[in-house]
Amino acid sequence: MTVSMAAEKEGKRVPLPPAGIVPTLCIVIPVLNEEANIARLVERLDDVLDGIAWEAIFVDDDSTDATRAAVAALGARDPRVRLLHRIGRRGLSSAFIEGAQASLAPCIAAMDGDLQHDETLLPRMFSALRDEGYELAIGSRYVGGGGVGDWDRRRAGMSSFATKLSRIVLHAPVTDPMSGFFMIRRDTFERAVRRLSALGFKILLDILASLPAPPRLIELPYEFRSRTAGESKLDAGVLRDYLMLIADKLVGHIVPVRFLLFAAVGVLGIAAHLVVLRLCLTLLAPGFATAQAIATGCAIVGNFVLNNVFTFRENRLRGWGFLRGLLTFAAICSVGAVGNVGVAAFLFGPSVHSAWWLAGLAGAVMSLVWNYAVSSVITWRRR
Ligand code: GDD
Ligand code: MN
Repeated sequence: MTVSMAAEKEGKRVPLPPAGIVPTLCIVIPVLNEEANIARLVERLDDVLDGIAWEAIFVDDDSTDATRAAVAALGARDPRVRLLHRIGRRGLSSAFIEGAQASLAPCIAAMDGDLQHDETLLPRMFSALRDEGYELAIGSRYVGGGGVGDWDRRRAGMSSFATKLSRIVLHAPVTDPMSGFFMIRRDTFERAVRRLSALGFKILLDILASLPAPPRLIELPYEFRSRTAGESKLDAGVLRDYLMLIADKLVGHIVPVRFLLFAAVGVLGIAAHLVVLRLCLTLLAPGFATAQAIATGCAIVGNFVLNNVFTFRENRLRGWGFLRGLLTFAAICSVGAVGNVGVAAFLFGPSVHSAWWLAGLAGAVMSLVWNYAVSSVITWRRR
C-alpha cells in the first residue's frame, strides 16, 4: 500500500504536492536522431517558459545516435525533462499520443525536436488556453506574419497540395492543419483520442478530424526556421502515410484502409499476371501450364514487393527477413488459392448452385481475406 492510500484509509486528507511541482504544461517532442539539438532546445524552453510549470517529454523511436543519452543527462539534473523510449515503432502521430498519455498536465503541446518550431510562441499559446478560453492554439505558417522559411518550391507545393486535400476530412477552416506545432487542452484531446487514426505524421489533422465538434481554436503565426543540425526524416513514405490517414478518416469506420491497400495491390497483381502470361505465350511459347506457372510466380513476387513497400511499410522487411517473408507469403497465398478453388467449387456445385461469377467472386474474396489476415500476422508481424 502506498503512503497516500494509507492516508486515505485513515480518513486523512491526501496532501497535495506543493504548487508548481505538478506541471500544467507538457511539451511532447518526438525525436529521431537529434542529439545535437536536445540541449539547446531545453535551454530555450527554460528561457521562454519562465513562470509556467512545464515538463518536456522526449519521445524517442530508438535513435541510433546519442539522443537518449542527451535527454538522460539533462533529466538527471532536471526532473522536468523526461524520456519515453519506444522500440520497433515509428511515426510522429503515435509518438505525440503516447507522450501526451504519459503526462498529467492539463495542457499539452506538440513541438519538433530540431529547433525548427519557434518556441517563443509557446507562452502566447499557453495564455490563449489558460486565459482566453481557447481549446486549441495552432502555430500557423500561413496566417499573416507566418512563413515557411527556406523551403524549396517543391516542398512548398507539396504542403499546399496536402492542405487542400485535407479539406475533405476537415470541418473547421484551418490555414495550417499540417502544422506539427500546437497546444491543446487535455480534456479536448481526450474527446478525440479514441477515434484517432494515429497513422503517420499529421497528428493535428487527425485530432481536428476526430473531434466530435469543432474546437474553439486560434491560429498564431510563426516562421518555420531552417534546420541547423541533423536532417529531415520526411521521405516518400510520408505521402503514403498521409493518404492512408485521409482514407482512414473517410472509410476507416467501414473497412480497414490497410486491407483496401492490400486488395488494390492484389488487383494490380492480377493485371501483371495477365501481362506476363501473354508475354510468355507469345515470346517463349512454352506450354500453357508453364506460362501460367511463370505468371503466377511473377504475380506473387510483385505483390510481395508492393505490399512490403506500401501496405506494411511500418514493418518493412529487408535482407534475410525479405527472403523469409517472400517464402511465407508465397506459402500463405498458395493455401489461399486452394481455399479459393474449394469455396468456389462448393458454391458452384450441386448443393448450392450459385451463378458462376458469384461462386468465382466468393472464392477470390475468401482468399483475399485469408491472404491479408494471415500474412499480416506471419509475414509482416510486428517485431
Ligand atoms: N519519435 C519519432 N519517431 N520522432 C520522429 C520520427 C519518428 O518516426 N520522425 C521524425 N521525428 C522527429 C524528428 O526528430 C523531429 O524532431 C521532428 O520529429 C520533425 O521531423 P522532421 O523530419 O524534421 O520533419 P520536417 O521538419 O521535415 O517536417 C515538419 O514540418 C511539417 C510541416 O510541413 C514536421 O513538423 C511535420 O510534423 C510537419 O507536418
Ligand atoms: Mn524538421
